[in-house]
Amino acid sequence: MAISIKTDEEIEKMRVAGHLAAEVLEMIKPHVKQGITTGFLDEICYEYIVNKQQAIPAPLNYKGFPKSICTSVNHQVCHGIPGKKKLKNGDIINIDITVIKDGYHGDTSKMFYVGTPSPHDKRLVEATYEGLRRAISIIKAGIHLGDIGSTIQKYVESKNYSVVREYCGHGIGVNFHEDPQVVHYGTPGTGEKLVAGMTFTIEPMINLGKRNIKLLGDEWTVVTKDHKNSAQWEHTILVTESGFEVLTLRSDEEPILPAG
Ligand code: MF3
Ligand code: CO
Ligand code: CO
Repeated sequence: MAISIKTDEEIEKMRVAGHLAAEVLEMIKPHVKQGITTGFLDEICYEYIVNKQQAIPAPLNYKGFPKSICTSVNHQVCHGIPGKKKLKNGDIINIDITVIKDGYHGDTSKMFYVGTPSPHDKRLVEATYEGLRRAISIIKAGIHLGDIGSTIQKYVESKNYSVVREYCGHGIGVNFHEDPQVVHYGTPGTGEKLVAGMTFTIEPMINLGKRNIKLLGDEWTVVTKDHKNSAQWEHTILVTESGFEVLTLRSDEEPILPAG
């Protein structure tokens, strides 16, 4: 599949979809508390996306996924299925939201702390976010995908964390997952060159321990092999001639400035 370059009309729809996905993360924040189940978080998000936003939760029935959002707790790396398990003090949880509005997808995720995180979990979560921000900051037409991956890898490995290899960011638009694949490790100057009008996600999964993962019997939930914790943050990005636009920026975030 060739990489699609979005027209101005499509970009406007991507902005709307991205903003709606970001709004779901803002809305859910006060509900992420100890004692609540991930299944209840899913219900709240479903209601909000369908009734308030008049949008579609993209994960629901996507390749058989049974819920509207992904909730990945502690050593779960990604694609956790919301269910009956209650959140407890000290948990870290990634909530991953993808909405479809007017035919276009917006995809974003963030980490939440349940109560007070341990210092090592807090450092992991902050380093993963900083890795994502640094990677976004270098984006403009003409750089290579390998520049993005290597920026994340260099930063997080300097903190002795590891980068998950089996899952990656992706082109996004009319389809949930389009070309290119955006891996979170690599070599500068290698891979596809970015062109203005590309839209893709960056969504590094970073582990406290070893990078190795395994898939649970539910065929969705990815966990670390060593059962140490993992963090992930995701934004949907538009490439422009001179830089980038973060289509899923939340109001609780500092804007991401272009690298000087
Ligand atoms: N939102 C995830 C991503 O960032 C994909 C979830 S697929 C699902 O690409 F089926 F698990 F929802
Ligand atoms: Co994604
Ligand atoms: Co996502």
